[in-house]
Amino acid sequence: MWDSSTQRAMVANSTPLVDPFGRAISYLRVSVTDRCDLRCVYCMSEDMAFLPKRDLLTLEELDQLCSVFVRRGVRKLRITGGEPLVRRNIMSLFQGLSRHLASGALDELTLTTNGSQLARYAAELAGCGVKRVNVSLDTRDPAKFHQITRWGDLSKVMEGLDAAQEAGLHVKLNAVALKGVNEDEIESLMEWAHGRGMDLTLIEVMPLGEIETQRVDQFLPLSQVRARLLDRYTLDDLSERSGGPARYVRVRETGGKLGFITPLSHNFCESCNRVRLTCTGQLFMCLGQEDVADLRTPLREGSPDRLDRAIDDAIARKPKGHDFIIDRRHNRPAVARHMSMTGG
Ligand code: 5AD
Ligand code: SF4
Repeated sequence: MWDSSTQRAMVANSTPLVDPFGRAISYLRVSVTDRCDLRCVYCMSEDMAFLPKRDLLTLEELDQLCSVFVRRGVRKLRITGGEPLVRRNIMSLFQGLSRHLASGALDELTLTTNGSQLARYAAELAGCGVKRVNVSLDTRDPAKFHQITRWGDLSKVMEGLDAAQEAGLHVKLNAVALKGVNEDEIESLMEWAHGRGMDLTLIEVMPLGEIETQRVDQFLPLSQVRARLLDRYTLDDLSERSGGPARYVRVRETGGKLGFITPLSHNFCESCNRVRLTCTGQLFMCLGQEDVADLRTPLREGSPDRLDRAIDDAIARKPKGHDFIIDRRHNRPAVARHMSMTGG
């Protein structure tokens, strides 16, 4: 921990983070672990090697880093993984970070989870000021769920969703659109989600990390899904943007919100407001690029100035955009790391 004079000095630097393209960085995503209790086929290989636990930042260090970003103008924190809720004692991080909600420095503290442990934590999360959660769910068919996640138990996620809604959390489902796997289920998933007051966002497969299957065999363009939905539904474009890759529509027939994340068929980089921190203190300025800045070293040196400088240098390198491609000739991943390292 920094002593109080160092902490006072830190208060001084509250210069907002603005990248060379004029994009203000107001959103930090934090992967608190690369581990997960599932092995989704598009995300991980079956025999994933995980980081040794000694390489991880402690929860206190993660809190310190998040707090520096909040001081520098980040208004929204999303805790991700891997699966964030498998990290031991993770609630202490939420409890700590909730002080920034109380002080008004932070607008939103939220998380992305696979839902398998949500039943246990939903009430506590709500108690920490979390208002919304994103839950990854690609199918409501137990056998398919088991196949996609390699060993997951759908009933656990369903219990998690119930608990989240009972605790008053607003739930958004994330479903990866998978060719020949859940493409025939998208309408029913949407009807069900909207019927329960949950939003649904569809995601195109992104080429992150080596896995066993060819991505081109999994890839289902959302333009196709959208065209099919238009046969049965009226989709009213919503102008709201999250600063992220999602575009939203209101489905007139269900009244619910539907999002499309199309990193491959659409360029969303011009409005990007986010950076990503890994559980080892590496800062990724773009999900689709390899460039990374080490924040663990300056953090552990205990010099707030050096840490601020490292963050400034990193933001100054934020690239204009990504360059994902999926086709037969580009069967290698665009970036070598898996989604579980940087979070979605
Ligand atoms: N492409 C697209 N989505 C992915 N996810 C994990 N790996 C990939 C990938 N390669 C999704 C998860 C979760 C979100 C955080 O990212 O299903 O919904
Ligand atoms: Fe785990 Fe999410 Fe990756 Fe599935 S997609 S293996 S739930 S991190």
